[in-house]
Amino acid sequence: MTERSAVPPEEPGGSPRTDPRQTAPGGRPISRKSLLRAAVAASAVPLVAGGGAALARDTGSGAAPLAPTPACDDGDDPTPDQMEGPYFKPDSPLRTSLVTSSTPGVPLTVSGYVFGRACKPLTGVLLDFWQADTGGAYDMAGFAFRGHQFTGADGSFTLRTIVPGLYPGRTRHIHVKAQAPGRPVLTTQLYFPGEPRNTTDALFDPALLMNVRSAGPGREGTFDFVLDVAQQPDPTDPPTDPPGGGGWAAGTTYRAGDRVTYGGGSYRCLQAHTALAGWEPPLVPALWERG
Ligand SMILES: [Fe+2]
Repeated sequence: MTERSAVPPEEPGGSPRTDPRQTAPGGRPISRKSLLRAAVAASAVPLVAGGGAALARDTGSGAAPLAPTPACDDGDDPTPDQMEGPYFKPDSPLRTSLVTSSTPGVPLTVSGYVFGRACKPLTGVLLDFWQADTGGAYDMAGFAFRGHQFTGADGSFTLRTIVPGLYPGRTRHIHVKAQAPGRPVLTTQLYFPGEPRNTTDALFDPALLMNVRSAGPGREGTFDFVLDVAQQPDPTDPPTDPPGGGGWAAGTTYRAGDRVTYGGGSYRCLQAHTALAGWEPPLVPALWERG
């Protein structure tokens, strides 16, 4: 048994976010470093060269690269939250598929990764999805189109479902709660690009757009979450600041002429090398010159 979603919409008094990224051409700006970090964390082939950089999984065969979705831009921008709405139910089944082969609707697979603030994957994150059926109705009597799962060791998740139907007052969306172990719950919603109602739904946030493409009879969507979970960068991570003014960091590849600071002093690289612990500038005058 399902019941038709009621009017009014989930947040009649809501107002659009004034995120400056709304005006960015092609979606949110994202640095090359961010993409690299995300791709490395995901063990994916890192980048598509050129202006249309995207995660490897977003470049399908024959399809033009889509705008990147990873919301992991240098650890300063967690996935925004959204209201829960009236249709959440606790105790959803543990399952990654909300459908069977006979479920009405357009098949949809949503996949992605969950990262912490340092763009490292988070394992064991609870993701609880709920959505309307193809007719725009939520199942309030049972658990149709509801399910929770946990991210794998690489921070990944995959949800098999259908494209949710529309209901009055809202654009097309999927609800989700994300919670890293022992951390607060992020409640938010995922959106579909190209939906006419995206421009009129007061809750719509472009930062929550999935990449969506056609795949056979269905669609594939991708989205990466960033949770507000503090993480320590790996020693092999690139320094926060670019060479030429940043601090020295083991694991970084320096070129002759690069400048770093270390221990309050300034040093110039004399020959290209990859820094190792124990090779701090004051210890290796063959590699670093003070000044
Ligand atoms: Fe909803």
